[in-house]
Amino acid sequence: MSYEFIVVHEELAPLVAGVQLNRPKELNALNLQLMGELRSALEKLDSNDDIRSIVIFGNERAFAAGADIKQMAGKGAIDMLKIDQFSTWDAIRRVKKPIIAAVSGFALGGGCELTMLCDMIVASETAQFGQPEISIGVMPGAGGTQRLTRAVGKARAMEMVLTGNFISAQEAKEAGLINKVVPVDLYLEEAIKLAQKVSEKSPIAVQLAKESVLKSFDTGLQEGLFFERKNFYTLFATEDQKEGMAAFIEKRKPEFKNK
Ligand code: CAA
Repeated sequence: MSYEFIVVHEELAPLVAGVQLNRPKELNALNLQLMGELRSALEKLDSNDDIRSIVIFGNERAFAAGADIKQMAGKGAIDMLKIDQFSTWDAIRRVKKPIIAAVSGFALGGGCELTMLCDMIVASETAQFGQPEISIGVMPGAGGTQRLTRAVGKARAMEMVLTGNFISAQEAKEAGLINKVVPVDLYLEEAIKLAQKVSEKSPIAVQLAKESVLKSFDTGLQEGLFFERKNFYTLFATEDQKEGMAAFIEKRKPEFKNK
């Protein structure tokens, strides 16, 4: 299937797919079509057994500079309600395979929120993260007040959301928003390396582990622990658990089969 605003790389590396946001003149502003394409591509990759993890990236200048302001500018509240753009975001949140954001340049507004919808973030030294919606008379709408606060804490989230100030990749790393900062020529490579490392593991274990970590955002501790325990027990029904533990005991590399 061909897309207008994204490019899908089914084999960015063995077992790793890539999706490139591709509206460079608009700094990859996330219009409705782009987000629809992204959802469709991610859902297809999620159901492809030859792929174990996914890297989303933009270009050197911008990961994404936010939702498309020009597309939203004339809309009223009821238009926005009917468009229901965030159902697309909810669908992306349901992707079971791990998603890594490889970020260079601007990750602003919806762009920053998209990185936080991913499971891990690798950034170039030039990356800038921000929620500047306040400067255009609105506020974050795709998780910027919730996921950002959980990631960096109240003080920094309040400052970013209320002033619109950007933070550097290094500050984002220190604040716990992102996993890694690397020189600009390495950000995609490092993200792929991280994706490959995850792709070597049992895909079923990775899926249930991702689901369990995400559950911690939605529940209290006791319910979360109960959920974790169920997923842990479930993995003992897999061949991959038998293989993983046998390989440890036999001092060899496991060969996981996703079974
Ligand atoms: N929507 C639509 N177009 C955008 C855009 C956006 N979010 N961000 C950049 N563009 C366009 C610009 O309009 C410009 O287009 P033209 O050449 O046709 O004028 C082009 O991309 C290049 O941008 P600039 O000339 O502005 O580049 P710059 O280097 O001077 O500035 C920038 C870069 C600081 C990122 C600046 O473009 C900017 O502030 N962008 C908007 C950032 C923003 O406010 N994002 C939040 C959007 S709202 C949101 O995301 C809601 C939500 O929670 C879902």
